[in-house]
Amino acid sequence: MTTTSARTPRPQPRGGRARAAIAAKTLRTDRWWFAPLITVVGLSAWVIYATVRVFMHKWYWVEQYHYLTPFYSPCVTDRCVEGSSHFGQFLPGWWIIPDAALTLPFLLLFRLTCYYYRKAYYRSFWLSPPACAVPDGHQSYSGETRFPLLGQNLHRYFFYAAAIISLINTWDAILAFHSPEGFGFGLGNIILLVNVVMLWAYTISCHSCRHIIGGRLKHFSKHPMRYRAWTGVSWLNVRHMQLAWITLGTLALTDFYVMAVAAGWINDLRFIN
Ligand code: FES
Repeated sequence: MTTTSARTPRPQPRGGRARAAIAAKTLRTDRWWFAPLITVVGLSAWVIYATVRVFMHKWYWVEQYHYLTPFYSPCVTDRCVEGSSHFGQFLPGWWIIPDAALTLPFLLLFRLTCYYYRKAYYRSFWLSPPACAVPDGHQSYSGETRFPLLGQNLHRYFFYAAAIISLINTWDAILAFHSPEGFGFGLGNIILLVNVVMLWAYTISCHSCRHIIGGRLKHFSKHPMRYRAWTGVSWLNVRHMQLAWITLGTLALTDFYVMAVAAGWINDLRFIN
């Protein structure tokens, strides 16, 4: 990618001040394009994998150890295999309906409206702008003031839904301490547990959560408990981007491991029973 190609300077959109008369597209000489490129590759790969898995409708439940992949939790269609439905089967099992149709839309909206992911896909997919000191890929800019981007403001509500879904995933991880003899513990349990811990870390590190915990206060000194909680959430919050990517990885890894055991490609490594 060139960083110095000549082009005609153009005015800033919406009545803003005209851009300085610099012929070069950008004066940056570093690899500013690398971050948007790797974001496109990473997010696209994850979305393709998740879409294939969600509509595969098999290999999501290990009956022997009660492992349920998070992509099918909770399993609520009448197609769900016996034992995998912890909250009933009240949706028809048409192939177009994901077996976790109750939760997946909210998880998708939670991530789509996440402050970090917004930055990531605005920069990488929409080139708006692709990097600091690099021109926007569009002629006009309206921010998030119009439909559909106006809906990004609903993120705070999707946070509550995501917190409930994390509780469901936690319940799944607890139920997975099962073996034909009673209590059991294997590599699958470790993977499910790590995934749940990371999901909680990502969810709690949400900017909306930070505001819920510490916002609308005039004096932290009068709310020591909230201050302590806000400090913890803030510590996680500065790692939100890393947690966003880590959880994509743990979700895919957890799903793949459950699929591999359910399909019989590998045996679960058991430590107890
Ligand atoms: S800001 Fe990313 S999940 Fe809320």
